[in-house]
Amino acid sequence: MGGRESTLVLLDENGIRCDGRKVDEPRRIMIKAGGLKNADGSAYIEFGDNKILVGVFGPRDVHPKHMSNTDTGILRVRYHMEPFSVGERKNPAPSRREIEISKVIKEALLPAVILDKFPRTAVDVFIEVLQADGGTRCAALAAASVALADAGIPMRDMVAACAAGKAADTIILDVNNEEDQAGQADMPVGYMPNLDKITLLQLDGVLSPEEFKKCVKVGVDGCKLVYELQKKALHEKYFQNGGDQ
Ligand code: CDP
Repeated sequence: MGGRESTLVLLDENGIRCDGRKVDEPRRIMIKAGGLKNADGSAYIEFGDNKILVGVFGPRDVHPKHMSNTDTGILRVRYHMEPFSVGERKNPAPSRREIEISKVIKEALLPAVILDKFPRTAVDVFIEVLQADGGTRCAALAAASVALADAGIPMRDMVAACAAGKAADTIILDVNNEEDQAGQADMPVGYMPNLDKITLLQLDGVLSPEEFKKCVKVGVDGCKLVYELQKKALHEKYFQNGGDQ
């Protein structure tokens, strides 16, 4: 973050970013609910050049049994990057980064799901990153919420997600891979719009207190845009295609 010498112009004199966007403009986002026949719920998201598939299974019996909880169902999340998802082949073994992202996505989803009606069971969320281009944890979190809703898991709200950040001394919405590598800060935000609750907030980089506040606001505003697309995806599956996917 920030330390690398680069000839890349992150923001030109007209306020246009390296991929042609304005500072407050998200990448193109497409979300589809359903699609995986063998999953109880699923979703596919394209967030800029990120392409991510999520399958949800459960509530179902817990294996190994000692992980089960007699009071409530449990949520398990696995974020996995395909070896071909990045320019330089990624080792297929789980990396520390994937373990961290699995954990933060699980913790971001937990306030949304209601699992106390399903004691001794597990809801498993499998996230497959097919193509990565910066911001995969936010894209994956947004798709996982749609897949959980598609599986019929009771939820207080859906978690929307979008990153904000800082590049060329400017607060920007939806940080892409180049901005993540050469910019000054990356702040992934997960947010439940109906409940007005932030469930994911990370920061890589350095911000002043004023920039921090602005970045959170920009990230939350991005989440509100993503939320509309999450609802649209579910609406398209259940009210326009007759739920036959
Ligand atoms: O994807 P996200 O921004 O949530 O997480 P990150 O750890 O900040 O990674 C930023 C980006 O680095 C990813 O989206 C990938 O495009 C890239 N990356 C990579 O090229 N090779 C890896 N082994 C891991 C990440």
